[in-house]
Amino acid sequence: MKTKKIDRSKFNLPDAKKARKRLEAAKIIKKAYVFNENMKDFGKGKTFNIRTYGCQSNVRDSETLKGICHDMGYTWTDDIYNADLVILNTCAIRENAENKVFGEFGLLKASKTKNPNMILGMTGCMGQSEAVVNKILTKYQHVDFVMGTHNIHELANIIERVRYEKQMVVDVWSQEGNVIEDTPVARDNNIKAWVNIMYGCDNFCTYCIVPYTRGKIRSRQVEDIVAEVNDLIKQGYKEVTLLGQNVNSYGIDLENKVTFAELLEKVAQTGIKRLRFATSNPWNWDNKIIDIAKQYDNVMPYFHLPIQSGNENILFKMNRQMKIDDYIAKVQYIRDNLPSCAITTDLIVGFPNETDAEFEDTLKLYDKIQYDNAYTFIYSKRENTPAAVMEDNTDKKVKKERLARLNELVKKYASLNNQKYVDQVVEVLVEGPSKSNPNKLCGYSREWKVVNFEGKAPVGSFAKVKITSASRFSLNGKEVTK
Ligand code: SAH
Ligand code: SF4
Ligand code: F3S
Repeated sequence: MKTKKIDRSKFNLPDAKKARKRLEAAKIIKKAYVFNENMKDFGKGKTFNIRTYGCQSNVRDSETLKGICHDMGYTWTDDIYNADLVILNTCAIRENAENKVFGEFGLLKASKTKNPNMILGMTGCMGQSEAVVNKILTKYQHVDFVMGTHNIHELANIIERVRYEKQMVVDVWSQEGNVIEDTPVARDNNIKAWVNIMYGCDNFCTYCIVPYTRGKIRSRQVEDIVAEVNDLIKQGYKEVTLLGQNVNSYGIDLENKVTFAELLEKVAQTGIKRLRFATSNPWNWDNKIIDIAKQYDNVMPYFHLPIQSGNENILFKMNRQMKIDDYIAKVQYIRDNLPSCAITTDLIVGFPNETDAEFEDTLKLYDKIQYDNAYTFIYSKRENTPAAVMEDNTDKKVKKERLARLNELVKKYASLNNQKYVDQVVEVLVEGPSKSNPNKLCGYSREWKVVNFEGKAPVGSFAKVKITSASRFSLNGKEVTK
């Protein structure tokens, strides 16, 4: 392939060494978003599409990007291949997440040839990777701009540069990170909202890229979070999910120390109808969270507690030091206090040199806890992480077999747990027609179960649904009046 010669001096390229540092205190920057008036009508009469990969943090970032696109006058289109502005908001967590993005950039090449005025950009966690940006610079030269996770509020300025500069614009900040307040937001849903409570991560689990792509842990102030939730209530939102890579570390960086349990109580007191949070690294999970959940009926009885492995040696190598007995005790405390709750987890199989016996411990733990569901992954090597240099002699085929065996257990307990709801009445926040049957309605129960049901409750209301049957994936039922 013919590659264009590029002037690298104009790029602000990612720097893995800088991204690893944890030296400076984070600043809380209010009103950081100054809209570039030159760009006010740039998108008038033009369309945009943003494709989001990865976790809820990225989903929430896309809502900010969308807000800025609206400020520029762009109109959303579902037709990504014919849009005037396309942004892939990317995820670097596993190799296959990255491959999907490269595949999409490949497909978008034809669209760009057809419409040379199309602006094509990359934001998100892949932008923070040196290897990825080098690959884009050499093999994906039809991409117009690359940004990372720290400067999404600069989108309009970057697009203005794309307009004038004759080469790709690369502006990736490898800083430790600040808290940027008051950015625009165009939310995807008008019933449920994501609310960031913190950014970044300092846990440095050895397999994980997130501390490098998202920077250091920095918490938003309690008042800013509570004000956002109060505003959402005024707008009619019924559910809020508090977001952080590890919400249990919330507040450790704030001058006035606040714990996550304390924040949860303050947010519960706003009176938002449903309150959830994600994600909790179990090593610093605090049972006080459950005391609050027990006291406030609007904290939903659903907890995602990623353990990753049932073997302590593997957990040690993952830098997620935790005694399995302590984890089991934490789960027991939750179940003793909130017997109707649901619990899910994340698991990685095939961590470098994981033995059969170590893997069996994961199955044993699964049988013991009998989770409602689990997200299971084969370990994926991430450049510049400590696990990337660990010796790994486990065969790929063996890893695949382990994943398949684990998934059998996941399926088994997902079905068994859902069966327990048959003949019970659950509360559902109605979101709209069911995807499988448009004559039915659909929503989530308090325990985060998908419920399809016959009924007339309006969207955004709470329906009481008697469950008549259950599958691995969902519950089915009928609305009842009492
Ligand atoms: N902050 C969250 C996890 C975010 S990433 C937490 O600590 O709970 C979501 C999940 O992706 C992780 O829980 C882990 O199971 C998986 N994951 C992360 N890095 C991975 C890697 N290199 N290979 C395979 N799975 C990985
Ligand atoms: Fe990654 Fe661990 Fe941080 Fe979760 S807690 S984002 S797995 S480093
Ligand atoms: Fe992916 Fe970044 Fe989230 S790597 S999982 S989008 S923090």
